[in-house]
Amino acid sequence: MKNMKSIRVNASKSYTVHIGRGLIDRVTDFIPKKYGKFIIITDDNVGKFYLDRVTAAIPYGCWNIMFTHGEASKTLATIEYFYNYLSEAGIGRNDCIIALGGGVVGDMAGFAAATYLRGIDFVQIPTSLLAQVDSSVGGKTGVDLPRGKNLVGAFHQPVAVIIDIDTLDTLPQSYFKDGLGEVIKYGLIRSNEITELLLSHDTDSIKTVIDEIVYRCIDIKRQIVENDEFERGERKLLNFGHTFGHAIERLENFTGMSHGLAVVAGMKIVSAVTKNNDVVSLLDKISEKYDLTREVNFSFSELLEAAMTDKKRSGETIDVVVCKAPGESFVENISFENLRKMCE
Ligand SMILES: NC(=O)c1ccc[n+]([C@@H]2O[C@H](COP(=O)([O-])OP(=O)(O)OC[C@H]3O[C@@H](n4cnc5c(N)ncnc54)[C@H](O)[C@@H]3O)[C@@H](O)[C@H]2O)c1
Repeated sequence: MKNMKSIRVNASKSYTVHIGRGLIDRVTDFIPKKYGKFIIITDDNVGKFYLDRVTAAIPYGCWNIMFTHGEASKTLATIEYFYNYLSEAGIGRNDCIIALGGGVVGDMAGFAAATYLRGIDFVQIPTSLLAQVDSSVGGKTGVDLPRGKNLVGAFHQPVAVIIDIDTLDTLPQSYFKDGLGEVIKYGLIRSNEITELLLSHDTDSIKTVIDEIVYRCIDIKRQIVENDEFERGERKLLNFGHTFGHAIERLENFTGMSHGLAVVAGMKIVSAVTKNNDVVSLLDKISEKYDLTREVNFSFSELLEAAMTDKKRSGETIDVVVCKAPGESFVENISFENLRKMCE
């Protein structure tokens, strides 16, 4: 198909990521032809636009579950509701779950697929920018607990990922910006080309090169997941900005700055703390351009205290992603004591 691209991911399970336009009207072209029934899991925002279209593209045996959008639904209670529905619909090991939505839908439908009947297959159809550039690939699935985000989960790779760029047309601008936060991250950890694209465009014109941006981000994710699927080393690079970003989100009880904006602020803070001033200037420039700059109303010591409860901490140290220059980054294990001194 014209202008369609695909990327093969060779993780513990191999699968193809299809990137193009209008793909949701022909999803069965990209799904292995071996399933009895399909069950689409989506949220009410996404379902309103795309559930009928995906259902129409599946000629037989299609069920669906639609839940209330948002992070507040990402709980074990919602998963239990899914399990009950899946068993009532008689979904078995030869059937397939389809995750249609943003990162919340993908993480939850993936977790249900990882655990129902000890694991069934699932397909990702990501519809938010964040999910298209990041969360739909790599197999991390899970839910939140009252004490923190993504504290329960499993690694479970999809059997296919179908990215229809046209679905971004209905994505609210604030969520598009959230996804751009992750795009900036990909540029800084690995790709000058992505950073150049961000620098040479603006809020309006970036959409003209979004297909290329999604492709480049997913290709970086592919390389990282192939090298380190279970996050023992290299995959930690994807947490650039997340230690302080999560700290901001936690201090604001997850009701203040959005995740993408918090990650942008977190990348600036960690780059300032590790004295990579050129990276800070670059982040300032890009975040101004795309209106991603927000004031952080916490001191370093408050942020550090919040970071000390991060699940990435191990004992008295924490893995911090350092970006020395655009495209050049590494993971450093730093003690909280040293980090405190660096913040002074
Ligand atoms: N698994 C991973 O590797 C990974 C990586 C990063 C983030 N995440 C997770 O992803 C989640 C955040 O993802 P998100 O930002 O996509 O949030 P989300 O799924 O809540 O989507 C954001 C909002 O946009 C709506 N939406 C999505 N696509 C739409 C479309 N095309 N048209 C109209 N509305 C649309 C959703 O209904 C929701 O209201 C978090 O839970 C985070 O933990 C997972």
